[in-house]
Amino acid sequence: MSAYRPPYPVPGVIWASLPLPSLLVNEAGLILEANPAAEAFLNASTRVLTGQPVLDRLAIDAPMEEAMARVRANQAALNINDVDVTSGERAPVQCTLHLAPMHDNPGILLLILSPRELADRLGRSMGAKTAAKSAIGMAEMLAHEIKNPLAGISGAAQLLSMSLSSEDREMTDLIVEETRRIVKLLEQVEQFGNLRPPDRRAANIHDALDRARRSAMVGFGSHMTIVEDYDPSLPPTWADPDQLMQVFLNLIKNASEAAGRPDGGTIRLRTFYDVSLRMRRKDGTPAALPLNVEIIDDGPGLPPDIAGDVFEPFVSGRENGTGLGLALVSKIISDHDGWISVESVPGRTAFRISLPLAPKDKRKDI
Ligand SMILES: Nc1ncnc2c1ncn2[C@@H]1O[C@H](COP(=O)(O)OP(=O)(O)OP(=O)(O)O)[C@@H](O)[C@H]1O
Ligand SMILES: [Mg+2]
Repeated sequence: MSAYRPPYPVPGVIWASLPLPSLLVNEAGLILEANPAAEAFLNASTRVLTGQPVLDRLAIDAPMEEAMARVRANQAALNINDVDVTSGERAPVQCTLHLAPMHDNPGILLLILSPRELADRLGRSMGAKTAAKSAIGMAEMLAHEIKNPLAGISGAAQLLSMSLSSEDREMTDLIVEETRRIVKLLEQVEQFGNLRPPDRRAANIHDALDRARRSAMVGFGSHMTIVEDYDPSLPPTWADPDQLMQVFLNLIKNASEAAGRPDGGTIRLRTFYDVSLRMRRKDGTPAALPLNVEIIDDGPGLPPDIAGDVFEPFVSGRENGTGLGLALVSKIISDHDGWISVESVPGRTAFRISLPLAPKDKRKDI
């Protein structure tokens, strides 16, 4: 393009052929380098883009300044799920955002935009949420259709077992057991589709966290140590308390399952107030999301091959996982105008949820 040479080594071939729009951003938030995919996305050359504030060139529907500061401070990569990104001249594209520190130069960040895969795979120009919805709609329909014949199969196996020797009965037991497992899975799929719109009211985040913690401690999380690190002055949020509890429960469950050791691990439930966290609504108006909840575990971290897609439905890194837990979390949080992100390295995985305040006149309701 020109004789311009970046003042630091960039692995040229990979950088140039990377199909995803990628930018290097310095400590002041200025673009240092844009790969050809980013030049195409932004409709401008690296030369023009260099030195411009990245957030002027890209309108990103997420609290980017805060996210970049966090990546610099922790020197750990951050994935942000499901955000609208636009260069101002085109319709917003729904992307997963990857922000990573450059380890040899801690002030510089690598920002990669990855347009949502599911929508791509479906080959339609629809947002990921719509794509996910239709994938789930299809799964829901299938779930309903499969449940009926399954009941027949299981009933027939039970009848058959009555005239069998105990040795052969093992087989029919297996049929009954496995059908039960499939039915359970299908019910989960149906539950996802049936999620009602949230009944929002002034809600105490700590109450929802406590309900989730108690439920975890008597069940799937009994092998874990759960530590509370609460800001007791946290004002109420504007949420459906049951759905909020479901969100925390799913996150604590994942953390418990990730520990993968009989002696368990530690889960920290942290809440804090942060006024600096603002995001842009779709209509461009700013919205504050000052109420923050983090569910942090000391397990092995997200499996690298699915780390960017864990919020997609049916993406699972566990043998018996359905991959619906985080998709449900993501849907509920987005229904609440909130924001979710995950930061994960071996030994520390933190899911952070940021929520809005209850309207002033409703806060005394609780
Ligand atoms: N705290 C965590 N630590 C490590 N990996 C995690 C963590 N949370 C989620 N994951 C990974 O993300 C995947 C997707 O999680 P999700 O909750 O959506 O589905 P699942 O747990 O596999 O199935 P389900 O929740 O439907 O039973 C998990 O299978 C796991 O590989
Ligand atoms: Mg799960």
